[in-house]
Amino acid sequence: MRVWTIFWALLMAHAASAAADTSASSVISAKLEACTLCHGAAGVSQLPETPSLAGQPEGFLQWQLVYFRSGTRKSAVMQPMAAGLTDDDIRGLAGHFAAQAPPKPGANGAADPAMYSVGQRLAQQNRCASCHKDDYAGAQATARTANQREDYLLKALRDFKSGARTGGGVAAMGDAVYRLGDDELRALAHFLGHFQ
Ligand code: HEC
Ligand code: HEC
Repeated sequence: MRVWTIFWALLMAHAASAAADTSASSVISAKLEACTLCHGAAGVSQLPETPSLAGQPEGFLQWQLVYFRSGTRKSAVMQPMAAGLTDDDIRGLAGHFAAQAPPKPGANGAADPAMYSVGQRLAQQNRCASCHKDDYAGAQATARTANQREDYLLKALRDFKSGARTGGGVAAMGDAVYRLGDDELRALAHFLGHFQ
């Protein structure tokens, strides 16, 4: 939690400077600077359990920010971050990250070939690509999962399985993972995190 405290202090400084200059674009860029502290300057995260946002479908990013803002998606970190965003902020921020280059294969280091193929088989059996697309780039409200941080992918899958994350009332992901055990979630996260 100590890390978050430091970010909060930085965030308050950004909010104060944004308030001094009231033009819409400077307010968005001040907010964006705060986002990049955790999500990375190029939208590729270097922090544990913190997702990269670069190259995510614009609609997915918009919806997740709306879910955090409304409290439909729980996160001690992101709910307060999203609480102060207007609809225009959300459109501006989502457009910015969607246009960035997604994380590259290799972003999570070398794959374990055995674990990768177990994950690949599970993804085929469970038809993950039917929504996430064959290249796992996602579309509209469905997330890009290709080369996302592996630790975050595993956290997300566990959160869907436990019901901690329900998203926008669409049962899609809860249905997709409820039969799977933790070893299977690990293999899926490994496969997607090293996708190529
Ligand atoms: C203090 C660190 C921190 C800051 C600052 C921050 N985020 Fe986050 N963000 C997180 C973490 C951690 C998560 C993962 C939450 C979870 O585990 O469900 C997240 C999740 C998200 C997601 C969901 C992505 C996905 O793949 O599910 C979006 C979108 C997002 N943040 C956008 C933003 C935007 C826009 C800003 C700036 C207004 C911002 N974040 C600022 C830490 C941060
Ligand atoms: C019926 C469509 C559908 C299927 C099938 C599906 N997903 Fe998803 N997935 C989604 C949607 C939609 C989201 C965004 C969830 C939300 O809005 O909360 C998502 C989100 C995710 C996320 C979180 C990404 C992030 O950045 O937060 C992961 C990881 C994921 N899916 C992996 C999988 C895996 C692995 C499978 C197969 C076992 C799978 N999905 C099958 C629709 C689907």
